[in-house]
Amino acid sequence: MILLTGATGYIASHTWLALWAAGYDVIGVDDFSNSSPEVLNRLQRLGGRTPLFERADVCDSAAMLSLFKRHPISAVVHFAAFKAVGESSAKPLAYYRNNIGGLVSVAEAMNASGCKTFVFSSSATVYGTPEQLPIPESASLATTSPYGATKLIGENILADIARADPAWRVALLRYFNPVGAHESGLIGEDPRGTPNNLMPYVTQVAVGKRERLQVFGGDYETVDGTGVRDYIHVSDLAEGHVAALRHLMDPSGSSFTANLGTGRGHSVLELVRAFERASSCHIPYDIVARRTGDVAACYADASRARDLLGWQATRGIDAMCADSWRWQRSNPHGYGD
Ligand code: UD1
Repeated sequence: MILLTGATGYIASHTWLALWAAGYDVIGVDDFSNSSPEVLNRLQRLGGRTPLFERADVCDSAAMLSLFKRHPISAVVHFAAFKAVGESSAKPLAYYRNNIGGLVSVAEAMNASGCKTFVFSSSATVYGTPEQLPIPESASLATTSPYGATKLIGENILADIARADPAWRVALLRYFNPVGAHESGLIGEDPRGTPNNLMPYVTQVAVGKRERLQVFGGDYETVDGTGVRDYIHVSDLAEGHVAALRHLMDPSGSSFTANLGTGRGHSVLELVRAFERASSCHIPYDIVARRTGDVAACYADASRARDLLGWQATRGIDAMCADSWRWQRSNPHGYGD
């Protein structure tokens, strides 16, 4: 059985479905601090079975110990974390307590139960301002926000655990920019308040919840002056987690770090145009000042995941936009709470 923490979040819910499709049993935990219980109903509809779920905070060590005592958990995919870059600068301690405290309490419960297989949600944010493009896993690491620091510290904690006890097998997965939604339109990204990220902002303009998109910076040294990112369909990302788990759980597998991206960069305006094509909606925008902390371009060297895991992204920017739109159009208020 695979434990997903932060199980009702955006990436985790898609990974839950991908794990079911691959034949794994799954148990999810979440405290709903940034997600909705309605996700469980949607998973039930999509999977045709009742999701096994417990409401708990990953920082609650006693709850984590109890979970591992009561369920035969053989591996963990640890999604539970706060993820808003700007908020992390305003509330650094909340980020360290939740993201680092949660990781430590889950890892301690794993040690106590003998479960030593761990997949960690890291981020391309650990590369800071990229020195080379595309970015290989060997690039130097630097972070520019408390959020980014929690991802890099998390990677280092797990590397230390694996060094101290070779029975541990750890995958550090560095996500690029997840977008899109399950093709059913039943699950997707449901940010609370004003979206920080580009795609949910665009879909909320399309559905009439926001008036205009602000494009942060038109004077970068990129194809059209706007920022370039490696957008990856969340269903591809979900399948990347299945491939990572398969590798770790194979007798010949071992710990690794891998980028999960497509290897292709798209500018903000390219994404807006692709979205307009996919949705037949017009997205009015203004080009405004750069956002503090943004880099001009960031895209993955995706070859390690392909060579090591036999995984690569298959869905392109048009599918990402069509699926994001289907989700937003059918759920204009997200999960509705
Ligand atoms: C951001 C985080 C990153 C985190 C990721 C999680 C920052 C600096 N980085 O990545 O650490 O792991 O989210 O998903 O916040 N843009 C606009 N208008 C908008 C929103 C975004 O023009 O309203 C532009 C940005 O300038 C950027 C691109 O769209 O060029 C993508 O932005 P976003 O979706 O926020 O992702 P990142 O900043 O790459």
